[in-house]
Amino acid sequence: MTPENPTRRDFLKGAGAVAAASLLPITSIELAFADPGQNFTFAYISDAHIQQIAGAKFVNNWDRGLIRAVAEANLLTPKPDFVMFGGDLAQLGKKEELDHGAEMLAKLDGKLRCVMGEHDYYLDLGEYWSKLFGPQHHSWDHKGVHFIVLNSILTHDDWTFNRWPTAVQRMNEMAGLDNPNGSPFMVGEKQREWLKKDLEGVKKETPIVLFSHSPIQKIYKGWNFWTDDAEEVQALLQPFDSVNVVYGHVHQIQYNQIGNIAFNAVMATAWPWPYPQSYTQAESLLPKLTVPMNRADPFFERDATGWQFIGVDTGRVAMHYRLSNNTDRIVAFNRAKGCPEDTVYQDQAAQIPPQNHY
Ligand SMILES: [Fe+2]
Ligand SMILES: [Fe+2]
Repeated sequence: MTPENPTRRDFLKGAGAVAAASLLPITSIELAFADPGQNFTFAYISDAHIQQIAGAKFVNNWDRGLIRAVAEANLLTPKPDFVMFGGDLAQLGKKEELDHGAEMLAKLDGKLRCVMGEHDYYLDLGEYWSKLFGPQHHSWDHKGVHFIVLNSILTHDDWTFNRWPTAVQRMNEMAGLDNPNGSPFMVGEKQREWLKKDLEGVKKETPIVLFSHSPIQKIYKGWNFWTDDAEEVQALLQPFDSVNVVYGHVHQIQYNQIGNIAFNAVMATAWPWPYPQSYTQAESLLPKLTVPMNRADPFFERDATGWQFIGVDTGRVAMHYRLSNNTDRIVAFNRAKGCPEDTVYQDQAAQIPPQNHY
């Protein structure tokens, strides 16, 4: 990999390897460096929403999405160094759902690391999930990259501990996409203090890849595509040369650039969410998006499910979305412009009247 044009080359190399398999809901991420001996990959699966119907009966479609993703991860060449699961393993946080999901994830060949989703958390406040998958926030270094996992779906203590008469009701209130009884997500002071200390030992030029469930940016409060203390977390990441935030939760393609931080969402294995009607509603306090979104069809069941191949060269994400029965998308970091860009779509989008942009 040469530093001059590594994205393109890594991309083609990885895409070729992965494209040999069928289109499945898995992300393969390659981190490429000037010395090819340092390159490595990891896989990313998210938002399986395993849902118990009764007893040993689960929603088959959601099961199939995760089973296929695990099978695909095991077929990846080269073998990923580890596999991330991006949160919302369960639908209603039940032990049975988490167990069933964990059983499927246990079939992964590589080491697994998990991010907490709100659907995993709000029944027992993460207790059983933590027994299965370990700490809710942690960091590690791997071949020159500093990786961080945060639990970004916490909220106010009053809402969590006092508002609801039962844990089941609390879970149900947080599970709806557009429920006005929900509460904004946040990382919270405790984790921000931890993150501050964690970053003290990291060199400014070390690439950082941070995994969260909700985006560490404010996209749309009405649907909780939102983290309330996003700016405070972003400020802690500001001193570093190259920061990437990869998140699930939104079940759709999103990308953005805020300062030094590139944001990329991954798709779900379960279902796609539609885009909010507008990304520019004043009350959402949306930061100015530096790129328009490319809309998948929310009425086509398998649209916007699929997998992504992601290249990260010198710490920047280039994401190749393989969509079931839809046009592939490529979102790559444009160094000249300093933000992620979907070149083909944005060239087309310039021809489309603004009211048709979502
Ligand atoms: Fe989800
Ligand atoms: Fe979620």
